[in-house]
Amino acid sequence: MVTLAAGGPAEVRADVLAVPVAAGGAPNPAIQALGETVAGFVSSGEHRGRLHDTLLIPAAPGVAAHRVLIYGLGAAEDLDGQRLRFAHQEMVQAARSFGHRRIAVLRAGPLRDEDAGAVVEGCVAGGGDRRRSATGEPTAALEELSLVGFGGARPESIELAAHLGAATARARDWQNTPGNEMGPGRLAEIAGEMAGRLGLELEVLGPDELAAGGYRLLLGVAAGSERPPQLIRLQHRGGGGAVSLALAGKGITFDSGGLSLKSADAMLRMRGDMGGAAAVLAAIEVIAARRLPVDVMAVVAASENMPGGSAQRPGDVWTSASGRTVEVLSTDAEGRLVLADALTFAIRAGATHVVDLATLTGAATTALGHAATLAVASDDGLWAHVAAAADAAGERVWRMPIYPDYRDLLRTQNADLRNSHYGEAGAIAGGMFIGEFAEGRPWVHLDIAGSHWNENMALRSVPRGPLGTGARLCYRIAERLAGQAAN
Ligand code: BES
Ligand code: ZN
Ligand code: MN
Repeated sequence: MVTLAAGGPAEVRADVLAVPVAAGGAPNPAIQALGETVAGFVSSGEHRGRLHDTLLIPAAPGVAAHRVLIYGLGAAEDLDGQRLRFAHQEMVQAARSFGHRRIAVLRAGPLRDEDAGAVVEGCVAGGGDRRRSATGEPTAALEELSLVGFGGARPESIELAAHLGAATARARDWQNTPGNEMGPGRLAEIAGEMAGRLGLELEVLGPDELAAGGYRLLLGVAAGSERPPQLIRLQHRGGGGAVSLALAGKGITFDSGGLSLKSADAMLRMRGDMGGAAAVLAAIEVIAARRLPVDVMAVVAASENMPGGSAQRPGDVWTSASGRTVEVLSTDAEGRLVLADALTFAIRAGATHVVDLATLTGAATTALGHAATLAVASDDGLWAHVAAAADAAGERVWRMPIYPDYRDLLRTQNADLRNSHYGEAGAIAGGMFIGEFAEGRPWVHLDIAGSHWNENMALRSVPRGPLGTGARLCYRIAERLAGQAAN
């Protein structure tokens, strides 16, 4: 439960009062007001406000909480929405590791009233448990979160933030679920459960329906797997139908590369290759629960990518659901294949605007690292919504150009398009391949291959492991389009 506390530190009861400190800032009045017992640790330099640094001290006179946890935000000038959320996630994880379940956060340092939502999103995301299946003692769960001193924050935005924080945690949990538990069928189950609970319209195409609909690209990717593919659509109807946003997620539950087999090392984290699907599913839950006044569909192209006797071969040519032929030069460039058919499915279901999310290319990580999502967009208007949504979500998205020159890279003599071997501009060309299936609709492609999971231990300001990237962003995109639809 999240509350905006009415009182100050002397009134608000909690296990721990969390006190933020920025590095290199001027002495902070909100911290000084706590008295020398707390402020002394900061003025003495025993806590310097560095990101990750936490200091747990006994209760102070004038503080109702049992303990005070001083935590660092890093330099104030580096504190954007993404860092702010990550810092609070870490703070909550530190508090939980000490066994504290009721946390009060003090507005101090560079935090402003408007940051309340970001604080809550980070804290609630940090309240989730990562190792569900470990048999050891579970970490204390976050039970109560109160915000102290955020007088100007709006209760509605706090409630929404709690929802978005939980959605982020859920997306991470799905990403992190091992491939033996998380197959295409499990993604369909998750969608089915959500449809029942929230009254969403659900359409799931299995192998027979996919064959009938001509979804050969998705079927080709799935051909080597024992597990049948699923093309899933969860439909929220909140608007008049003039705008229908499709959020299409890559749902490769395990990417071995297929016959273009990955190295053992590269394969190791490929259970997270359904990160796009996790994001759109987590987002539509919040979109539906909050009844956003706009039509939104979450489309998930779910499959495994496995080698096997019936697997597709490098060099195979298939016809997409939209009628274009594709030469599969690498079975490891499977994301663009399943998304191509997913876009056709979305357009058949009436999509007017398309955003796809995919762990598509290693090249996205090469270009931007793990700290940002790479975008390409066909339309400046929809891109403007995505950029503003990223800001509201506290996610970083950087747009790459589409150069018509690179359309040549997609060509081949043997089909209309080829799926790989472009030689350069891998993240852009990969996106452009998908864009060929948007049929002229405003379309933005979000490559989250880098940003969905941080595996670089040296990159310390981004949490390790699955990040739930795109869940909050998708909600905010839908919210922007709902605003546009109302105008
Ligand atoms: N799922 C991978 C991309 C990926 C790599 C995601 C690392 C997360 C971390 C994708 O299916 C893939 O294999 N892409 C190939 C494309 C290439 C064959 C054109 C890649 O990036 O190497
Ligand atoms: Zn993949
Ligand atoms: Mn692949």
